[in-house]
Amino acid sequence: MASQPIDMRHSPLIEVDQLVVSPAFEADLKGILIPKGYVDARIEKLAADVSETTVNGDLLAICVLNGAMHFYDKLIGQISQPVEVDTIRLGSYCGTSSTGVILEYPFDYRKCQGRDVLVVEDIIDTGRTLERLVGRIKAENPLSLRVACLLDKPERRDSTVTLKPDYVGFVIPDLFVVGYGLDFNNRYRGLPHIAVLQDQLTR
Ligand code: IMP
Ligand code: MG
Repeated sequence: MASQPIDMRHSPLIEVDQLVVSPAFEADLKGILIPKGYVDARIEKLAADVSETTVNGDLLAICVLNGAMHFYDKLIGQISQPVEVDTIRLGSYCGTSSTGVILEYPFDYRKCQGRDVLVVEDIIDTGRTLERLVGRIKAENPLSLRVACLLDKPERRDSTVTLKPDYVGFVIPDLFVVGYGLDFNNRYRGLPHIAVLQDQLTR
């Protein structure tokens, strides 16, 4: 049984001067929601949860680029089973709101046929991106399919989306977050903590 996500929806933000943050980013951030060490500790547990389900061959772990790259790297490094690494590039965001148009880059879904697949995503927001991706993989009849998401923003879920990730790190409030791989127009991915952007940037 996978562990329950940690609910951060009522956690006060940590001031940016209470942790080490690049001066280039400091003024843009309202505060830090989840410090790096907390994220790392939770990913260690998610990797243990994933490892509880044994698979026969190698687990095909697909990283959804670009946002999930740090999460993916940490997660697969701690899964106690052989993992075959793969990546897929998808995107729907422009600024802080989902454009609704999911950009798809070429990916040969046939490689999921008969495999135990783990999709690794940074955040589930409206859920449209993951639902589309999961649908594409299911159509190839994988042996099994699981989804790991570092963050979940349930308040924003599209009413038509029924997909529920198998592993979730943290439930977060309806705020635009950056850091730990997550970006705002391709900035802030290298910020080590998960932080909330200033309102004026996200309006
Ligand atoms: P969805 O299709 O609306 O669930 O969008 C999911 C994608 O939007 C994620 O894979 C992220 O790349 C991006 N996204 C959603 N919320 C945030 C956020 O708060 N910060 C950064 N990226 C986000
Ligand atoms: Mg993403």
